Amino acid sequence: MRTYREVAAELAAQIADGRWAPGHRLPTHRRLAAEYGIAVATATRVYAELERGGLVVGETGRGTFVRDRSLRLSSASESGGTDGREGTAVRADLAFTQPLSPSRADLLRTALRELAGAGDLDAVLRQQPPGGRPHDREVVADFLRSRDIPAHATEVVLTNGAQHALDLVVRAMFSPGDVIAVDDLTYPGFKSLARAHGLELAPIPTTATGPDLAALTRLCAHRPVRAIYTMPTLHNPLGWVLDASQRRELVSIARQHDLLLIEDAAYAFLADPAPRPLASAAPERTFWLSSLSKSVAAGLRFGMLVIPPAAAPAIGRTLRTTMASPSGLISAVAVRWLADGTVDSLEHAGCLAAGHHQRILHRELGHLHPIAHPRSYFAWLPIDPDQRMDRIAAELSRRGIRVCTADLFATTPHVPHGLRLALGSPATEELPSVLAEVRAVFDTVEPR
Ligand SMILES: Cc1ncc(COP(=O)(O)O)c(C=O)c1O
Repeated sequence: MRTYREVAAELAAQIADGRWAPGHRLPTHRRLAAEYGIAVATATRVYAELERGGLVVGETGRGTFVRDRSLRLSSASESGGTDGREGTAVRADLAFTQPLSPSRADLLRTALRELAGAGDLDAVLRQQPPGGRPHDREVVADFLRSRDIPAHATEVVLTNGAQHALDLVVRAMFSPGDVIAVDDLTYPGFKSLARAHGLELAPIPTTATGPDLAALTRLCAHRPVRAIYTMPTLHNPLGWVLDASQRRELVSIARQHDLLLIEDAAYAFLADPAPRPLASAAPERTFWLSSLSKSVAAGLRFGMLVIPPAAAPAIGRTLRTTMASPSGLISAVAVRWLADGTVDSLEHAGCLAAGHHQRILHRELGHLHPIAHPRSYFAWLPIDPDQRMDRIAAELSRRGIRVCTADLFATTPHVPHGLRLALGSPATEELPSVLAEVRAVFDTVEPR
């Protein structure tokens, strides 16, 4: 009789060959046993082995399905994937920030079932207005008002994620050569947009608690700065939350120099309670944006942009020439989750999980003095300038641990040394051993 390993290897080869599409339902344990002439208990071991290898997913009461391996998994160690380099197996993905919680499949199944039972289902397939349907925008505005963002539905634009919201603002409001002030370490997605649209990024030096606002004032006095791109509530990658007086000063600088503010709140829900958003103090000049990528799911692609009323015509024109309108189907699901408290509870669960992972990080790597908000999805590990950032990152990569190096975030010609570790991909049980390996690499790679 064939062993479970032999049968698992044969099925694994067939899955790798692409014989079945992702999501394909595999035979029941009983049928597999009959097909291969093995015991049912052996068939169960076959599927367990394939699941451990990240090739299939078993869903209680539903069956066993081929997993889509082209996508990042919540736990990289089970993926057996590669990081794009020939032969480098990805053991842990500490590069990508995503929600730290379990599957959303059941939530999605319920939402789709409810949606299917709703009246006028055709509405989600009809062409949507550029910023989304009035009712959907109303629900988002209500949700945002509960977060101290004084949004009126006509100033809310539904987008395809926060990155799309940023792209809209950049396309609608700026021209090549415009100068935008940014932190000296900032979100890489904004750097790419600036590069693509020919904007000049003027770095604001950072202090331990946020941007150096005196330096920003000097910058604005000397350069024709048009806007500030900022993450006042849970900065990526440094995790800071600006206090009320820093926010007042930032708004006062913006008013004094007539600057636009781009307030990126992608991770703001993790820092609850936080001082009021800039959008509530300066709605006439603030573009506030966020998405459900970090609280619900990165693949949902549902973003929320609140614009100053005067920007409506420019944003409307840009919307029509870019995305035309948001997806009615995605908006219907997202809006349901915003209205029925699902997003609130996922945010809460995200905060708890992030806090737990931060405590593990501090236990394992506290001696390296990580910089992080206590409920952040990531942490910044500063490295002495003479100390080998590239060699540490290369050694981690050789061991299958992906991290982000400082050059990705830096807006200064001189790049500080540091790594950002995202803590969302490894499962909680695996995180200590992954971080212990990071510690071992720091211990073994010698200073120059
Ligand atoms: C600070 C920040 N803003 C925006 C985004 C983009 O988010 P989305 O996936 O909604 O496009 C990210 C994603 O990592 C981010 O870190």
